[in-house]
Amino acid sequence: MRLQGKTALITGAARGIGRAFAAAYIAEGARVAIADIDIARARATATELGPDAIAIEMDVTSQASIDAAVAETIEALGQIDILINNAALFTAAPITDITRADYARVFDINVAGTLFTLQAVARHMIERGIRGHIINMASQAGRRGEPLVAVYCATKAAVISLTQSAGLNLIAHGINVNAIAPGVVDGEHWDGVDAFFAKHEGKPPGQKKREVGAAVPYGRMGRAEDLTGMAVFLASAEADYIVAQCYNVDGGQWMS
Ligand SMILES: NC(=O)c1ccc[n+]([C@@H]2O[C@H](COP(=O)([O-])OP(=O)(O)OC[C@H]3O[C@@H](n4cnc5c(N)ncnc54)[C@H](O)[C@@H]3O)[C@@H](O)[C@H]2O)c1
Repeated sequence: MRLQGKTALITGAARGIGRAFAAAYIAEGARVAIADIDIARARATATELGPDAIAIEMDVTSQASIDAAVAETIEALGQIDILINNAALFTAAPITDITRADYARVFDINVAGTLFTLQAVARHMIERGIRGHIINMASQAGRRGEPLVAVYCATKAAVISLTQSAGLNLIAHGINVNAIAPGVVDGEHWDGVDAFFAKHEGKPPGQKKREVGAAVPYGRMGRAEDLTGMAVFLASAEADYIVAQCYNVDGGQWMS
């Protein structure tokens, strides 16, 4: 019960990795706000996770929605000790096909959403003197570019950079900001990635997943549950001396 009595706001937690984080935090004694733009799914997830989960409607691209979601979470749970900036959008296209609209949308969710949610929660933590923990979801995609994934990769590189700056700034208030960089994690997100590559590389459905899984030194794609140990650790007092770092949890794919 390493998070006994703690409260967490997790964005994009209606499904996938965020949902697994919420379940793991509850198992460690925390109460969790499942914040998502898909409120119907967030409500269903909160119901499945039990009385220590609440659903909050949140669009991380809207400042009014961020402010309302943070206020609602504080109202319902008393305060916010832990934030995971997990909501993100993946898109892919050859460089020659990228549109300004797609670029703006993906940066708005993945980068501005992360920064301004972090800002709103950090203000609350500072105001209340909470020595909180903030975790940003980066990616191996932020460590290096990929031929068909320029915009998403650039957003995740930006998330790593924001983690460093925010981590260095906020540790003065006793707030730890760190990031997790997963590799390839199976789930609905990767169903979409597989479908994109099926179209662009002429592969049968499921082929891209098999290829990326086989290329992981561990021998398979990740599962959301493979990431929960790091997410619990970085939210706990055991991680208090860890500042502005980004940890790879990727089965051995990236060395840094
Ligand atoms: N799955 C992977 O292979 C992988 C690898 C590396 C990093 N990541 C990162 O991990 C995190 C979670 O990934 P996942 O695979 O669970 O993704 P996912 O697509 O399954 O889930 C993303 C969630 O974010 C929500 N969301 C989207 N836009 C939103 C918005 N504007 N406001 C609030 N919520 C919004 C969606 O409704 C969804 O519930 C993301 O940051 C992703 O970039 C995933």
